[in-house]
Amino acid sequence: MNGYQRATAELAEQGWTVLHRQRFGADHASVLAIAGHFGRPSTRDGGQAVWEVRPRPGRANGTFSERTGPAAFHTDAQYHARPEDYVCLFVVRPAADGGHTRVLGAEAALSTVRPATLAALRQPAWTWTVPEVFQASAPAARPAPVATADGTIRWRADNLAQPLPGDQGRAAADFSAALERAEAREVRHRPGDVIILDNRRALHARTAFQDTDRLVLRVRLWRS
Ligand SMILES: [Fe+2]
Repeated sequence: MNGYQRATAELAEQGWTVLHRQRFGADHASVLAIAGHFGRPSTRDGGQAVWEVRPRPGRANGTFSERTGPAAFHTDAQYHARPEDYVCLFVVRPAADGGHTRVLGAEAALSTVRPATLAALRQPAWTWTVPEVFQASAPAARPAPVATADGTIRWRADNLAQPLPGDQGRAAADFSAALERAEAREVRHRPGDVIILDNRRALHARTAFQDTDRLVLRVRLWRS
């Protein structure tokens, strides 16, 4: 079994995996060659397969990939009818002061919420706002469940379409609190790391950072 096969097996089993010491620099062709072992790159948002996750001047209120600071637990592309299956993060330059990835499986994330919260999260009644930077490529999706009986999840609390009905507001607050207290795995960034996340079975978050030199390349993938 080679490294890619081992990583593919671990991704299927636990919902995420990490490859270390990969050679890609900031070269998109090398990044796509590695990502291609795990799925088919999506160009849906931003019109390109490789998206530079780096702080951008004047985008302090932009989506997570455009600003410094922490990111709460979420799944990517939750505003689409069908989010991509996988998200790959290629660490080019870690931040000097944090910016690490945290990972949490859907089952663990939901394990401490109240029964009423779980019932609300399973209703096909949730909608998300499309980030401004991707609005041209993402038509408004029909309401969808946050969690499904077969274990999939989609979530991003600060992107929920407002106003929320009362039961959704209560469920969102309870779920957000559960995510904050959950014991998540922290993956510390080193140059050459490739973090691959199952975007339908795990949530990810980011620890705080301010270093504007941080550069991570993101590729979202379809299961091929
Ligand atoms: Fe993300």
